[in-house]
Amino acid sequence: MKVVSSKEDLTEIIDQLKAKKNSIGFVPTMGALHDGHLSLVERGFKDNSIMVVSIFVNPTQFDNKKDLDKYPRNLESDIKLLKKVSKDKIIVYAPTVEDIYGASVSSVSFSFDGLENEMEGKFRKGHFDGVGTIVKRLFEIVQPEFAYFGEKDFQQLQIIRKLVEKQHLNVKIIGCKIHREASGLAMSSRNSRLKKEYLEAAPFIYKTLNEAKKKFRKMSAQKVTKWVEAQFAKHELLKLEYFNIANVKSLKTLKRKSPKQKYRAFIAVFADDIRLIDNIALN
Ligand code: PAJ
Repeated sequence: MKVVSSKEDLTEIIDQLKAKKNSIGFVPTMGALHDGHLSLVERGFKDNSIMVVSIFVNPTQFDNKKDLDKYPRNLESDIKLLKKVSKDKIIVYAPTVEDIYGASVSSVSFSFDGLENEMEGKFRKGHFDGVGTIVKRLFEIVQPEFAYFGEKDFQQLQIIRKLVEKQHLNVKIIGCKIHREASGLAMSSRNSRLKKEYLEAAPFIYKTLNEAKKKFRKMSAQKVTKWVEAQFAKHELLKLEYFNIANVKSLKTLKRKSPKQKYRAFIAVFADDIRLIDNIALN
């Protein structure tokens, strides 16, 4: 497996592979890989002969310095996991902050037509400017034909689609299903930081999303939201940051149901000081 840390080395390898008619798929990650990430890479091999996986904890998308410092990093075990998917068809790009940002570690300011102001955008200031900046930069470096993003970060996925549309980027974006533990807990790099009791409590998040989905068939979005808030108010360990039922396109909070529109429920929860997000399609 090729592991490169400079964009010049990566570009050289990719140019050679493209000259031999390989199609290049791309999965950007922040490392601490798990089966959710691997499922994106596996999905990518359906469309591409070579997959590039970037591993880069992007400083500009963290609104919280402590979260950035504590973000799990382990390149060796990430490489081991990727080898399980393919030993010779994956290129790992693990750049330094300098390689990506040079001397100025800052993000560009984007408009994503309001998508950036909902949910995660409200609670994590500047987060999506950081995500837009790094993903656009990585697309420029890797120049993939396809790029794969998880529905686990559904708002991010819609924002990347908007970024590609507005900036006329030449890449096809593929959304991939959420990969879960047997308990239902959505896989996340942050799960590895959960203390035992919180790890045991966390499946409550997906269980509640499923119950909310059932209630949504008969109840209004407002009533379902109140019900979910009440469930978390009673919970001893998990603290709800937000629960929101929104239109999948605009990401705006649902006021009145329309049979023609698609909706999702989105949730952010604190388990101790670890912030977990999840979502579920409602119709
Ligand atoms: P990261 O959290 O490492 O996630 C990388 C990709 O894996 C994202 O597209 C995310 O949605 C997907 N993913 C994570 N957990 C998943 C799961 N349980 N099931 C399916 N897909 C899952 O998202 C980021 O990194 C960063 O914001 C990034 C896009 C790399 C920009 O820095």
